Amino acid sequence: MSQQKKAILTIEGREPIELPIYAGTLGPDVVDVSSLTAKGLFTYDPGFMSTAATKSDITFIDGDNGVLLHRGYAIADLAEKSDYLEVCYLLLNGELPNAEQKEKFVNMVRRHTMVHEQLQFFYRGFRRDAHPMAIMCGVVGALSAFYHDSTDINDPHSREVSAFRLIAKMPTIAAMSYKYSVGQPFQYPDNTLGYSENFLKMMFGTPCEPYVVNPVLAKAMDRIFILHADHEQNASTSTVRLAGSTGANPFACIASGIAALWGPSHGGANEAVLKMLDEIGDVKNLDAFVKRVKDKNDSTKLMGFGHRVYKNFDPRAKVMKQTCHEVLNTLGIHDPQLELAMALEEIALKDEYFVARKLYPNVDFYSGIILKAIGIPTSMFTVIFALSRTVGWIAHWNEMIGSPYKIGRPRQLYTGATERNYVAMSERK
Ligand code: SDX
Repeated sequence: MSQQKKAILTIEGREPIELPIYAGTLGPDVVDVSSLTAKGLFTYDPGFMSTAATKSDITFIDGDNGVLLHRGYAIADLAEKSDYLEVCYLLLNGELPNAEQKEKFVNMVRRHTMVHEQLQFFYRGFRRDAHPMAIMCGVVGALSAFYHDSTDINDPHSREVSAFRLIAKMPTIAAMSYKYSVGQPFQYPDNTLGYSENFLKMMFGTPCEPYVVNPVLAKAMDRIFILHADHEQNASTSTVRLAGSTGANPFACIASGIAALWGPSHGGANEAVLKMLDEIGDVKNLDAFVKRVKDKNDSTKLMGFGHRVYKNFDPRAKVMKQTCHEVLNTLGIHDPQLELAMALEEIALKDEYFVARKLYPNVDFYSGIILKAIGIPTSMFTVIFALSRTVGWIAHWNEMIGSPYKIGRPRQLYTGATERNYVAMSERK
């Protein structure tokens, strides 16, 4: 980053304050306000609407023009031409791998797909109807108890081993959370298969008969993994960065990201979209639903729509919608919920309420329909998001830990009571 210009902050009755302005390679310039504390001032930005919390080389988003780049490569190109493990390599290392690098990376991931045999007993502590995201929070957080030998965050090799362990084991842990919920035996990874095939076999295979993965579903699964892999400083990635800034081990940091992702405003939206479509039920109910969304006294939101950054189409939603049609057509599936989603999108894109607020479909609006076609139950949708986003979380965590950093510690505008004396119980009203 380079210093281009400076900002002058003028406050009545005070000397003007000079603040450096930095420019990155793409996107808005930033005003460095770090010197304000020494001058007795804080900035105030609830929800971090205008705050760049860090500099990063990993992902760039242009919300006004619907651009998403991973290390400079457009998401549409990666979704069409790459595969998830290659995108993992790109996010972690900054460049696309050559053939030898890719083979080595894929083989390293393959070597870590199994989990410690003792880990399976964690699942027995949960009720069978536990939400799989609750299981993921618990089991991933517990990994540091099994893989303590790769928790030295100051050792680059240790960080690399943790990265491989997490990327490789998330599909296994995720599939185990599904198998546990349906009362079927856990399936071991089959390392003769690719990453997405392996996941689907662990999800739907049983010991009773051979399971052959449908290549159309495997390709769709891999594309969904690519589309969810990283997204700049979103809520869960910022959570991972903040947890990592305390020196917490990588497994604890990723568990914090899983917890943050679960919210319906974030990664929980894909599950919420299917629930919303279920509630609407039929196109004849769309107008009444949209009326509720627009009613200020009604908290109903159009799930899968809107985004803090995208004030234009989410480029991932475009690819997701196209993949939806491809998968359903190839499988010969007629899903009325796809028709419903498309009708809802058509209404929203023309309605002044949504247009004025620049609300467009985001990554979650169509993903659930594809996941349903693949056979993934709704309760597993956010688990799929967490599985895919693990590499993005690790890439950001590694980027922070790999260079000088400080513990994240925001301040506040205090509006509470001024100091007052303690009141004995006998004197309280
Ligand atoms: C993800 O940050 C990331 O990058 C996240 C993500 C990633 O890959 O990591 O992209 C993944 O989280 C995608 C978003 C998934 N969430 C949803 O689909 C839930 C529905 N969307 C909303 O909750 C909302 O749009 C957010 C949370 C996504 C964004 O909220 P903002 O930026 O804080 O916007 P806002 O709430 O200030 O909304 C501005 C206006 C408000 O109306 P007014 O008060 O101005 O009248 O738009 C309205 C909001 O009420 N609005 C919606 C709406 N989203 C915003 N109204 C109806 N339905 C919606 N979905």
